Amino acid sequence: MGKYKILVQCNKMWCYLFLASAIVASAYANVNADDMQYFMTNDRVRFFQIRSGQLDNLGVNQNYEVKVLSHGWIDNVDSSWYEPTKDNYLRRGGATIIAIDWSRHAGGLYSTAISRLEAVANHVADKLMEFSSVTGIPLTRFHLIGHSLGAHLFGFVGQRILAVRGELVGRITGLDPAGPAFENRDPSRRLSPDDAWFVDNIHTDNLAGIARSIGHIDYYPNGGSRQNGCIIIGCSHNRAPLFFFESVVSNGFITVQCNSRSDFNNGRCNNNARTVMGENVNQSLRGDFHLNTNSRTPFAMYTL
Ligand SMILES: *[C@@H]1O[C@H](CO)[C@@H](O)[C@H](O)[C@H]1NC(C)=O
Repeated sequence: MGKYKILVQCNKMWCYLFLASAIVASAYANVNADDMQYFMTNDRVRFFQIRSGQLDNLGVNQNYEVKVLSHGWIDNVDSSWYEPTKDNYLRRGGATIIAIDWSRHAGGLYSTAISRLEAVANHVADKLMEFSSVTGIPLTRFHLIGHSLGAHLFGFVGQRILAVRGELVGRITGLDPAGPAFENRDPSRRLSPDDAWFVDNIHTDNLAGIARSIGHIDYYPNGGSRQNGCIIIGCSHNRAPLFFFESVVSNGFITVQCNSRSDFNNGRCNNNARTVMGENVNQSLRGDFHLNTNSRTPFAMYTL
């Protein structure tokens, strides 16, 4: 029975990999500077591309936190959650937003994208360290927010910055961090709590996304698997960014520390620590947190 279960899981994982990889098949050899694009905005409404050598001329507000966004596999800077995330941070009072486009390496086979992660991460890390040096904004005020493979990308970015600067970035938020090929990886080769002062993850799909807890706080909305209102493939995996950008302007995702979904459903965790999922989480707490959401926007229920 135990063996059988493992076999079925593996099959599903490889099945997912195989199907998805068949959609796009392309390969690139190295990570060149030209492959990577960085866009920025703070008070302005539109993103503009940061070109090399321009960093000291960006008019960055010293008081703002730096929010760095990364898409995942087969995605790019037009990723549908970048704009509303930026809009909500501007609505909330301001932040400097840096949006990464690494589609040149994220656009091929899933396995190819994974093999590029560290090289891409080194490029991103160097860029962020340069940004920090030029603007004087400490790395502890950087918050890296990555969807799917982008979450693990930021794990490598955090490691690289630690190795080069001896400093941790402030926070990494994984939005349904990728599952296939990462579920049983050594923590040093995926996103882990060692990669930032605070690491939190929103789990929305236990197949495309990783099922295990890999942060200081891991949230499991609707059990962390199929999301309310989702029918088509990819919908649950893509819910995490939607929950996250809503959380930037909402304290309605009330969540409670709980070790299992069944305990949560049976009310056995009702007296445990509570906080909100996403941007405004209480960063002193630790563990797995459960909650339910609405099936469409606004997703927050404002109640447990
Ligand atoms: C955050 O959690 C800690 C630990 O439970 C608690 O002492 C603190 O009051 C909480 N902070 C807020 C703002 O709720």
